[in-house]
Amino acid sequence: MRNNISTLCTLTGVVLLTLTIGVCIGLASNLKKGENLYTANCAKCHGEEGEGFLQLYPPIHNSRFLKEDMAELPCIIRHGLKGKLSIGSTIFNQIMPANKRLSAEQMSLIITFMQEKWQHFGPELTVKKWLTTCPSS
Ligand code: HEC
Repeated sequence: MRNNISTLCTLTGVVLLTLTIGVCIGLASNLKKGENLYTANCAKCHGEEGEGFLQLYPPIHNSRFLKEDMAELPCIIRHGLKGKLSIGSTIFNQIMPANKRLSAEQMSLIITFMQEKWQHFGPELTVKKWLTTCPSS
């Protein structure tokens, strides 16, 4: 009887450990995918570290769209952005082109990567849902 219980405990332990390792590897590889997508789609303008470039491209590591208005982020990526934008003491008035290639899943990988990298955690975001509510532009 005792043997059975200890075998059961060992097995449960092994299963839990395997699951935990599996989940961690899954999360890490999603972050890596997000990083690659960020590098391919955002970094050439906003910089690897989200630092931006002069008055041409705004910094995004501290963006309010990452901290407060996350729901707008998928719309900005999908439809682009134009018009005056003041960030700190700098005013940007440029055009961010729309990105129609990224799927909702790829966008959420990018957003999750940006949140982790710059440590801003907003509410859970369902990109697919938010894309349907984007103001038409
Ligand atoms: C071709 C250059 C370019 C690319 C590529 C680009 N952006 Fe932008 N982005 C801009 C410009 C220019 C603005 C400022 C628009 C304005 O002045 O209204 C901007 C604005 C933004 C803003 C709002 C500014 C802020 O700091 O809050 C966010 C957020 C943003 N971009 C995120 C992204 C993300 C995420 C990607 C990748 C999926 C991306 N951008 C790809 C050029 C780009």
